[in-house]
Amino acid sequence: MTKQDDNRVVIFDTTLRDGEQSPGATMTHAEKLEIAELLDDMGVDIIEAGFPIASEGDFRAVSEIAERSRNAVICGLARAQLPDIDRCWEAVKHARRPRIHTFIGTSPLHRAIPNLTQDEMAERIEQTVTHARNLCDNVQWSPMDATRTEWDYLCRVVEIAIKAGATTINIPDTVGYTAPVESADLIRRLIETVPGADNVVFATHCHNDLGMATANSLAAVAGGARQIECTINGLGERAGNTALEEVVMALKVRNDIMPWHTGIDTRKIMHISRRVATVSGFAVQFNKAIVGKNAFAHESGIHQDGMLKNAETFEIMRPEDVGLSGTSLPLGKHSGRAALRAKLKELGVEVGDNQLKDIFVRFKDLADRKKEVFDDDILALVSATTEGDDALQLVNLHVTCGTGPAEATIEMEIDGEEQSATSEGDGPVDATFKAIRMLHPNKARLQLYQVHAVTEGTDAQATVSVKLEEDGMIATGQSADTDTVVASAKAYIHALNRLIVRRGKGGRDVPEISYRDVT
Ligand code: KIV
Ligand code: ZN
Repeated sequence: MTKQDDNRVVIFDTTLRDGEQSPGATMTHAEKLEIAELLDDMGVDIIEAGFPIASEGDFRAVSEIAERSRNAVICGLARAQLPDIDRCWEAVKHARRPRIHTFIGTSPLHRAIPNLTQDEMAERIEQTVTHARNLCDNVQWSPMDATRTEWDYLCRVVEIAIKAGATTINIPDTVGYTAPVESADLIRRLIETVPGADNVVFATHCHNDLGMATANSLAAVAGGARQIECTINGLGERAGNTALEEVVMALKVRNDIMPWHTGIDTRKIMHISRRVATVSGFAVQFNKAIVGKNAFAHESGIHQDGMLKNAETFEIMRPEDVGLSGTSLPLGKHSGRAALRAKLKELGVEVGDNQLKDIFVRFKDLADRKKEVFDDDILALVSATTEGDDALQLVNLHVTCGTGPAEATIEMEIDGEEQSATSEGDGPVDATFKAIRMLHPNKARLQLYQVHAVTEGTDAQATVSVKLEEDGMIATGQSADTDTVVASAKAYIHALNRLIVRRGKGGRDVPEISYRDVT
């Protein structure tokens, strides 16, 4: 196969190597195995599973991923040193389809670190690629910082690596310095200029320092690259790498102008994105393309109305294509009556015109005070228009805390009757929640407790979210106050009130948030 006549682009995922290099993104052994399995399942062609010489843990992870691999090529990284390459081979050789990836920094700045002359480095490349190829018939070579390497020297070393047996030549934009026009041109000129270039696959590996990684990778493909290196959620050093989900969906959605395709099952994208976010501890930003919480969410009334009539009005891909079960229409202050009616229908709530009017007025009032109105809020509004007041109400809270145990004294109105309780706890919030439980014993488990500061300064409003689970029923509570402990107490009581309403309704469960679960 030659690159020019084949429109198939292979996806090389390096979440477990370059992605894991993000400071703080370390994954456990079991988590790495799980992510590798998901990558293999979704049709990733090559999984860079780690850097075997870097640690005993990396070696074990690469070896086990190699052993368990089904379809994907399993690749390990190695510096341009013989012991690195041997160690890498020891780990990847268990794979059905192993690959050794060896690299060296070729730009003037990177050559200065090992203090090698151009000739000395050329010799090292020849020796190490030959060694790798003697061990494995699938060898990838990368001139690190290629985009800042002198053109003549880059051509020279690429030619040496090809002659020594490399089967894939990766051109890394290590510091995210290139731009799309240059990226396309660089690959095109290398293929035209370097003898033997037709017999290897050219790969692109872009970092996102200027926010151009995905555009640079796609441009490189236009220039002739047929392997894209990327990570899930764009995880990676500094600003990260090209995001797998972005390049894959861009090629799918704009196939009319980018006639290349991948073998990725895009319906697996959302699930793996969420797993990587969880295990790496790197949350996905809300407005991130494809996988962000808001990527398929429409808030303004005009957008929601358009979406309800024809989803294509504001969506260029279907949420189902990336593994979501549907579009989310979170309600906010810009939402109109049509969206509210649709949301109620989706939640299985039937209301008459008068009640809808009443709910809409209350909803607008709430949306003015609250950024996003969740399904649970809507259900609470429905309850408020059909049922009486909250059963539990906070009257007073007094907390003492410091270096010793905290103590909370709480007064609450419970079904119209005032009661009080005092409890000690491990910190002021724990003491407060315990005191509330003394007054309203329950077996609800606290699933989430989150505090966000909504303004700056020590007088910032704290918004607290609490999520409770009881016998499979979920209820959230939110509250804001300049006192974090008061906000916590109110949020907890808010969630308990919702549980009381749910219990009264026979425990019908509803989606916790409008952002749908993965199919
Ligand atoms: O960014 C880079 O240059 C790399 C190489 C090891 C390929 O990650
Ligand atoms: Zn990199």
